[in-house]
Amino acid sequence: MGRIVVGITGASGAIYADRLLTHLKDLGQETHLVLTEMGKKVCAYEGFPDTAAKADRVYDNKDFFAPISSGSYLHQGMVVIPCSMGTLGKIAHGIGDSLLTRAADVCLKEKRKLIIVPRETPMSALHLQNQKVLADYGSVIVPASPSFYHKPATIEDLVDTVLARVLDQLGLENHQVGKRWREP
Ligand SMILES: Cc1cc2nc3c(=O)[nH]c(=O)nc-3n(C[C@H](O)[C@H](O)[C@H](O)COP(=O)(O)O)c2cc1C
Repeated sequence: MGRIVVGITGASGAIYADRLLTHLKDLGQETHLVLTEMGKKVCAYEGFPDTAAKADRVYDNKDFFAPISSGSYLHQGMVVIPCSMGTLGKIAHGIGDSLLTRAADVCLKEKRKLIIVPRETPMSALHLQNQKVLADYGSVIVPASPSFYHKPATIEDLVDTVLARVLDQLGLENHQVGKRWREP
């Protein structure tokens, strides 16, 4: 069993986080969740008030004594999903002023997988620059930008086109989420 850290911020797209937690559970992963205050509010507003209950452990975003605050606590990677431009900017500049941004900063310093799923449109040059900074420092940017070539029939199918790439990036390539191009 692997251990995956999930961070939820106040960007639109709570369904991405909610379904990711479901998929990780189905794949036998232990999930450690931290939500920002706006993450909690936007989850509830978008119809996912119970997302946190899907995680194995949930931390207070002010709790710097939590295990994921330390590099000595081992895990297989962190996904920030959906990632607001505010949190993205903080992570890009090493501002670990909350448990979420600290845990992401730990991933960068420990060279662990840090997957950012940004959501904003349009993006300013500053938003794009911050993503370039993160990519240069080793994080993987997986935009909340679904694909349509598999002809998704439902919103869940559409969301899964992004989550399949997130799971691939976590090294969980055996997942059955979504379809692979030109594979039966
Ligand atoms: C309904 C709603 C949707 C939002 N969607 C986005 C978004 O897609 N991207 C974004 O960067 N901010 C979005 N925001 C604004 C963020 O919630 C706000 O910038 C907040 O400070 C982010 O804080 P956090 O990064 O600590 O969660 C949204 C706010 C609301 C109320």
